[in-house]
Amino acid sequence: MHLTVLVFASVLSAATFALDNGLMRTPPMGWLAWERFRCDIDCEHDPKNCISENLFIDMADRLSEDGWRELGYVYVNIDDCWASMDRDKQGRLQPDPKRFPGGIRKLARYMHDRGLKLGIYGDMGTHTCGGYPGTTLDKIEIDAQTFADWEVDMLKFDGCYSNATEQEQGYPRMSKALNATGRPIGYSCSWPAYQGGLPPKVNYTQLGEICNLWRNYGDIQDSWDSILNIADWFFENQDILGPAAGPGRWNDPDMLVLGDFGLSMDQSRSQMALWAIMAAPLFMSNDLRTISSGARSILQNKMAISINQDPMGIQGRRIIKEKSGIEVFLRPLSSNTSALVFFSRRTDMPYRYQTSLSKLNYTTGSYKIFDIFTEKPMMLKDSTTFVVSVNPTGVVMWYVSAPAKQSLRQFYKGGRLQGSVYNDHENAIPPVFL
Ligand SMILES: *[C@@H]1O[C@H](CO)[C@@H](O)[C@H](O)[C@H]1NC(C)=O
Ligand SMILES: *[C@@H]1O[C@H](CO)[C@@H](O)[C@H](O)[C@H]1NC(C)=O
Ligand SMILES: *[C@@H]1O[C@H](CO)[C@@H](O)[C@H](O)[C@H]1NC(C)=O
Ligand SMILES: *[C@@H]1O[C@H](CO)[C@@H](O)[C@H](O)[C@H]1NC(C)=O
Ligand SMILES: *[C@@H]1O[C@H](CO)[C@@H](O)[C@H](O)[C@H]1NC(C)=O
Repeated sequence: MHLTVLVFASVLSAATFALDNGLMRTPPMGWLAWERFRCDIDCEHDPKNCISENLFIDMADRLSEDGWRELGYVYVNIDDCWASMDRDKQGRLQPDPKRFPGGIRKLARYMHDRGLKLGIYGDMGTHTCGGYPGTTLDKIEIDAQTFADWEVDMLKFDGCYSNATEQEQGYPRMSKALNATGRPIGYSCSWPAYQGGLPPKVNYTQLGEICNLWRNYGDIQDSWDSILNIADWFFENQDILGPAAGPGRWNDPDMLVLGDFGLSMDQSRSQMALWAIMAAPLFMSNDLRTISSGARSILQNKMAISINQDPMGIQGRRIIKEKSGIEVFLRPLSSNTSALVFFSRRTDMPYRYQTSLSKLNYTTGSYKIFDIFTEKPMMLKDSTTFVVSVNPTGVVMWYVSAPAKQSLRQFYKGGRLQGSVYNDHENAIPPVFL
């Protein structure tokens, strides 16, 4: 366990420099329109769901009034289909005047007044994926300045309608242009997703220097198949992707879709658990006005969030893939603690998986365990065999304390040695969890 932590940490400090804008030292959290609301611009027939300022105002109200903001969900992010089809007389992008009559700056101020942040969407290319005006190489500086003038806090820069050469020039240039505005703007690059997500076409060292986060892989959909497909790709390529992540620089497996239509409660817990293990950005794409209390309690689980937000920023790994369909994931956390996820690919019934912490390479000692979704604590010695019951397509997720060594203090009762005790505060559960 300690070995794992040390190896990870040295890889991290030796190889990586983050984009120097001071932002996103832990994975960004918030809400992003795309997966749930797509390019619905039919405000006449669907006024509550169309891409308009009202939608973002509604979500901002929910984030600030329903306990989300306090947990860290602060970004309210516009995706495609916000723009007018034409630039203005000065060549600047402008929002669709019917759907955003107040303009983007007013929307940004609405967010800032509530302790939230506004994100916007652009595209390196002639058009956005939805066919709206894109940012060609000659428009990068003017678009960066427009976003800064609007007091936007984050840019998702997509890559439709450009080729590899243009992307290679455009993504670093946008990073420079954003910096030159003087406004700290979080920068999400879709570049690697357009180049297959892997070296040699993708240079993760460079990405970490110019972007705060990047989409490595295809778009998420509202289905279990999609979650499984994305998680499999990220963990199959964990040796490449893991070292790329760290404070200020994150792999982005795409939005959280729990709270929508496609996932069961077990699958919803699985997405939350796996995204926390991956140190993934937590951008929900759901309808916060109508979300179920079940999905809300998973998304608002403080322990899962604090695992995701661990300040060391080490991306977790799959450590075991059993023939039975059980997989085990581990993420090293600060202060010699860690998170474990037991995940079942099975489709029959809850599976009783038997193992011990020493089989998972934890060092000798006694550990306090906190079950993230049942909120039950327990003590485990490394050598103790235990059984977890994992539901089909579900998870069991644990926070594991630092190991407490057997204390030198031994206790006597009636003049006789009763055995050794564990030093309790060595492996205490942090107060944030209780
Ligand atoms: C721009 O980059 C410089 C040098 O890396 C950095 O010190 C500064 O904070 C950056 N400014 C913004 C607004 O990102
Ligand atoms: C990429 O697009 C540019 C501009 O359209 C063009 O000049 C260039 O030849 C293209 N490069 C490749 C490799 O297709
Ligand atoms: C990747 O990018 C880094 C930083 O920009 C650079 O030093 C390195 O040479 C690049 N690697 C390759 C294989 O191009
Ligand atoms: C983590 O464990 C190592 C090895 O036992 C120890 O040297 C180090 O002080 C511990 N770090 C913290 C933050 O507890
Ligand atoms: C435990 O460590 C051994 C030896 O380094 C390694 O072969 C094995 O894969 C590790 N097991 C896990 C679950 O990490």
